[in-house]
Amino acid sequence: MQKNDRDMEIKSAVFVVSNASVDKCPSSDMPEYAFIGRSNVGKSSLINMLTNNKKLAKTSATPGKTLLINHFLINGKWHLVDLPGYGYARRNKKEVEKLQQIITSYILKREQMVNLFVLIDSRHEPQKIDLNFIEWLGENGVPFSIVFTKADKSKASQLQSNVARFVKVLKEQWEEIPPCFITSSETKTGRTEILNYIDKINGTLSKQSQQIQKE
Ligand code: GTP
Ligand code: MG
Repeated sequence: MQKNDRDMEIKSAVFVVSNASVDKCPSSDMPEYAFIGRSNVGKSSLINMLTNNKKLAKTSATPGKTLLINHFLINGKWHLVDLPGYGYARRNKKEVEKLQQIITSYILKREQMVNLFVLIDSRHEPQKIDLNFIEWLGENGVPFSIVFTKADKSKASQLQSNVARFVKVLKEQWEEIPPCFITSSETKTGRTEILNYIDKINGTLSKQSQQIQKE
């Protein structure tokens, strides 16, 4: 086994806390990786797939399951964060605004968040709501990458053409395309790629902090 494989192994994944405000999130300075996207896109399922624990984050076939910021501690060293989805219309205006506020303040204020995974349903053509959201991330300088979900639900050719279309639309706005991952929480496609990506960022951060301590 190579060193890298061992490092990104999930040895423990523990629920820490749920809350409705970024100010109440864990105060430790461990790096964290959050998941955002439309309601029902598969954020909570992806966290369960990455951690090999189907019961860790609550999932549902009905949109609007996750309504709070949920922290999960991984290997005692970093957090995965499950967020509520955006774009779920079947709620009253006040509730929609409240969710929006939770999501926005977390994304803009949470300094520990080193990467936001933006989940896109791989079955659909590019959706305005996702493109607008990504544009907003760009305007605010939020570090993000893209995860196409539910890859098991389409034929390979359809999947490739949907992903290609989305990337093409992104290229109209961005000079450089962020890292993109194709995943399925059913078949575990993309698991190693995402965990390696996280491991790489964690490695860079820990080198940086060792450097600062030396100085
Ligand atoms: P909210 O919390 O409501 O915003 O939704 P979410 O984005 O957390 O979605 P969740 O993980 O709860 O999944 C929504 C539904 O999609 C559930 O019925 C999941 O079983 C299903 N689902 C999620 N990921 C996949 C996948 O990769 N493949 C398939 N076939 N189904 C999936
Ligand atoms: Mg959820």
